[in-house]
Amino acid sequence: MSTNRHRFVMQNGVDPSYASRVNPLKHTAKNAGDGKRLYEQNCALCHGQTGMGNGEAGKNLDPPANIAAFGKRPMATEDTCYWSTAEGGVPFGTGMPPFKGNLKEDEIWKIVMYLREF
Ligand code: HEC
Repeated sequence: MSTNRHRFVMQNGVDPSYASRVNPLKHTAKNAGDGKRLYEQNCALCHGQTGMGNGEAGKNLDPPANIAAFGKRPMATEDTCYWSTAEGGVPFGTGMPPFKGNLKEDEIWKIVMYLREF
């Protein structure tokens, strides 16, 4: 987990351009399956297959990339998940890259769907 990120959200709230966004996609097996595949392609290298932060590129990061229990936290609302993935750690200087230029909006939403089932 990332205390920088959580402190940032506690102090600033969710970035207004992301606040209150809800997943426009229906929860279907197809969308969740796409989310899993996209996660494996883009995120597992750091976060690991199950979010433990033990991917090859994630093992030595500080703060660590463990997001295993993330989806169960009250803070992990859809808008926060979307923001975290789209902007990465840019607002507070962590190793999490931003994905908004590389993934389409619906691809990020599919990943968010998957993350919340961790
Ligand atoms: C280069 C390594 C790297 C990659 C690739 C990466 N992340 Fe991260 N991620 C991190 C690190 C390190 C943190 C902890 C620091 C932070 O919160 O910014 C993190 C934090 C997060 C958090 C916040 C967890 C929390 O406790 O609030 C989420 C959500 C997340 N990542 C999702 C993703 C998703 C989804 C992808 C793929 C689209 C991805 N990450 C790809 C390194 C990475």
